[in-house]
Amino acid sequence: MRFISILATLGLIASVKAATVDTDSRKPAPPPGFVTSRGTQFELDGKPFNFVGANSYWLPLLTSQADVEATFQTMKAAGVKVLRTWGFNALNGSEVAGALQSGLTYYQVWNSSEWVLNDGPQGLQRLDSVIQTAEKYDIKVLLAFTNNWVGYGGMELYINWIAGGGQTHDVFYTDPRIIASYQKYVRTIVERYKDSPAIFAWELMNEARCLGDLAAGPACVPGSGLLPKWYKEQSDFVRSLDLHHMITTGGEGHFSWSNPPKYWTNGSLVSDYNFNGEAGENFDLDITFPNIDFGTYHLYPQTWYPELDFPGSNFSVKQWGLDWINDHIASANRAGKPLLLEEFGVTGLSNKTSVYTAWVNRALETKHAIMPWQFGQLGLTESGGNRVIKYADALIDGASPNDGFAIYRNQTVVWDIFT
Ligand SMILES: *[C@@H]1O[C@H](CO)[C@@H](O)[C@H](O)[C@H]1NC(C)=O
Ligand SMILES: *[C@@H]1O[C@H](CO)[C@@H](O)[C@H](O)[C@H]1NC(C)=O
Ligand SMILES: *[C@@H]1O[C@H](CO)[C@@H](O)[C@H](O)[C@H]1NC(C)=O
Ligand SMILES: *[C@@H]1O[C@H](CO)[C@@H](O)[C@H](O)[C@H]1NC(C)=O
Ligand SMILES: *[C@@H]1O[C@H](CO)[C@@H](O)[C@H](O)[C@H]1NC(C)=O
Ligand SMILES: *[C@@H]1O[C@H](CO)[C@@H](O)[C@H](O)[C@H]1NC(C)=O
Repeated sequence: MRFISILATLGLIASVKAATVDTDSRKPAPPPGFVTSRGTQFELDGKPFNFVGANSYWLPLLTSQADVEATFQTMKAAGVKVLRTWGFNALNGSEVAGALQSGLTYYQVWNSSEWVLNDGPQGLQRLDSVIQTAEKYDIKVLLAFTNNWVGYGGMELYINWIAGGGQTHDVFYTDPRIIASYQKYVRTIVERYKDSPAIFAWELMNEARCLGDLAAGPACVPGSGLLPKWYKEQSDFVRSLDLHHMITTGGEGHFSWSNPPKYWTNGSLVSDYNFNGEAGENFDLDITFPNIDFGTYHLYPQTWYPELDFPGSNFSVKQWGLDWINDHIASANRAGKPLLLEEFGVTGLSNKTSVYTAWVNRALETKHAIMPWQFGQLGLTESGGNRVIKYADALIDGASPNDGFAIYRNQTVVWDIFT
């Protein structure tokens, strides 16, 4: 109130109003077919755009266009309007020979402190096909630029090759050479697809944290504000390349509360990592940045709290998830921005059936978007249907990779929750 009245005296009230009340008025009108945001709603061509989406990181790893096409057909039939996939696939030089043999998709090769782009048929051309097919089926794609984890070539490759061994994970957010290298890749991807209405939004990182497969360092601790600063700067950078597409963090939605809740584990009451700022994010702050267009968060209580639902626990997986959803809704409403629960999962078919129903209903009631981890496709044909994609991910008998969370059409009780 005080802030407003001082500015009003200076005759600046109109611009304050524009900046705080109608955040959208600063953005130029998007071209037709581009998703945008208005208040807490996603919008497409002037109409509210609500969705239950899909995660399928493996889509650009498929070697057959027929299989890509078949996956989009299944998604379309299931009513999927937005899918999320990786906009990165980087290899260490030592992995190239194996990749050439197996047909593994890769976009970047690290043999020195400067990665080399692969925009050939086993490289970005595969991602091109996914984006083109998405255009054809009128499905939007949420694309992440890199990974907090080593999977599919993430931050640790930048750190190891640029800053050298023996570093902590957080140098990714501070070393200017690493930031420049990351931005060079971001520019490559954004310039390639920035005219496509099939891009739903850009995502700065999958699950950015202070720690990764490398340990956290002293620059990234509760109160340091390092990750929020990085989100702010990188989102501003992406906006400088692309005026129209939405931008988001891709984060798990960790809070940094001054009075975080505690919980019982193994006989002691401990501070909760999801709320105490140790992870690095500050969801309440991150979502307020001008070029973070909406909030993202993830939800895996079985992994985060192995003691949930066990005898003596005072809360359940289902209830913990509902509380986590409510906390994010409250924060997004305060910021006046849309919200996407962009990954969630529990293992076990009966767990999925009971828990997902409650979470999905809560999300739909509150008009926010959700996408389960992860979409399952059956009947893939490539290499006779059996190929190790990377690490332990395999296509077995034509089924897309299953990490215990995949939801296939033949699992009717779970499938129907989302369609
Ligand atoms: C990187 O090094 C590997 C072997 O160490 C080699 O097979 C590959 O061709 C190199 N790639 C590039 C892009 O330099
Ligand atoms: C990448 O390759 C280099 C040299 O071939 C090797 O020393 C390093 O351990 C590899 N790093 C990873 C993350 O695989
Ligand atoms: C539980 O606490 C006991 C006693 O302090 C300790 O020995 C054990 O390693 C702990 N278990 C786990 C899973 O943290
Ligand atoms: C579980 O117990 C802890 C410690 O008493 C408390 O802080 C927490 O709020 C409880 N959780 C729920 C969901 O009731
Ligand atoms: C169902 O959830 C409970 C509680 O998290 C877990 O202990 C159990 O292993 C799950 N079932 C399956 C089959 O994963
Ligand atoms: C559905 O398909 C998957 C993958 O092929 C398979 O593992 C599973 O057993 C099938 N489930 C049913 C209910 O048929």
